[in-house]
Amino acid sequence: MGLNIEVKLVEENKKKKREYKESELGFGKYQSDHMFIMEYEKDKGWKNPRIVPYQPLVLDPASLNFHYGQTIFEGLKAYRGKDNGIYLFRPKDNIKRMNNSARRMCMATVDEDLVYEALRKLVLIDKDWIPSSHGTSLYIRPVMIGTETALGVRPSKQYIFYIIVGPVGSYYAEGMNPIKIYVSDKYVRAVRGGIGEAKAGGNYAASLYAAAEASKAGYSQVLWLDAIERKYIEEVGAMNIFFYFKDKLVTPSLSGSILPGITRDSVIKIAKNWGIKVEEGMLAIDEVIAGIKDGSLKEVFGSGTAAVISPVGILFYRGDDHTVGDGGIGELTQKLYDEIMGYQYGEKDEPYGWVERIDT
Ligand code: PLP
Ligand code: COI
Repeated sequence: MGLNIEVKLVEENKKKKREYKESELGFGKYQSDHMFIMEYEKDKGWKNPRIVPYQPLVLDPASLNFHYGQTIFEGLKAYRGKDNGIYLFRPKDNIKRMNNSARRMCMATVDEDLVYEALRKLVLIDKDWIPSSHGTSLYIRPVMIGTETALGVRPSKQYIFYIIVGPVGSYYAEGMNPIKIYVSDKYVRAVRGGIGEAKAGGNYAASLYAAAEASKAGYSQVLWLDAIERKYIEEVGAMNIFFYFKDKLVTPSLSGSILPGITRDSVIKIAKNWGIKVEEGMLAIDEVIAGIKDGSLKEVFGSGTAAVISPVGILFYRGDDHTVGDGGIGELTQKLYDEIMGYQYGEKDEPYGWVERIDT
């Protein structure tokens, strides 16, 4: 028998004002009226799961996460779709991945059914925050941090797990227009054997310096190469990456240093179902550049919850911009975007069992 989730609703006059236009939401600027939170203590387990008014956390400055980085998170979305329904896309895969991250970071694992119930309940309580225009959604951000007050380097014996939600539009300012990506052969994000496959805050901290350089030069994101040879493609700042050559779709394999993206997995399954040959393997940046030059590489796109399917128009590598195809949105990229969005908004039937309507 699982734990009961208590609910304390915000007072009517303390509800936040929603003074934004759906067309100008951007990503992550607004949070809703409520949050879920629970605490963990070693040998006692999780306790007091509850939904409460959105509020600041009060933490001791010696809490372990501030110093040694036991911070993990997830990202998924609730969609307002067909028949005004509320839909989730593969939510249980996110919760499983959270537990994988927790294990890798020596943190507490969560009861997956409890967390699923918590996020379902929170989304329904704050359902008025789900925007309804095409391409918008309610972003759901589960987070876990180590909270024990200690300064020795070791796993925390205490944690908090919380979920916040807020309305979002497109992740990139470009929207669905092709983005420009900067291939870094100077800085690396993660190395095999490290924590790259965990959704840990530290991986994002490690990415910021190169991302700032890329941004200064006019590029939206960094494409990381493997940390040892600086030769093989890994992933992009907030998404996995795919290369569509004449006869096959290629994406880096899950070697341990990249995030096992849920959208990545969906793309692979859909493309295979469409009869496209999909290869997961080691792809050298030189093969990519050669493919762009001889025209055998037709499309490049990224995949992610926040990014959905994002066409890549230009790759900057070693001093040169390389334009993929005509720099526009490729046919397969557009088709995958329409297919996945169609599922997520409950508009298209899907054979995989990925979509759940939660408001009925
Ligand atoms: N890679 C990184 C580094 C990410 O932050 C994300 C976003 O979650 C992804 C890939 C894509 O993963 P998913 O499709 O599960 O959102
Ligand atoms: C997501 O796509 O949900 C992510 O977590 C990416 C994020 C770092 C913005």
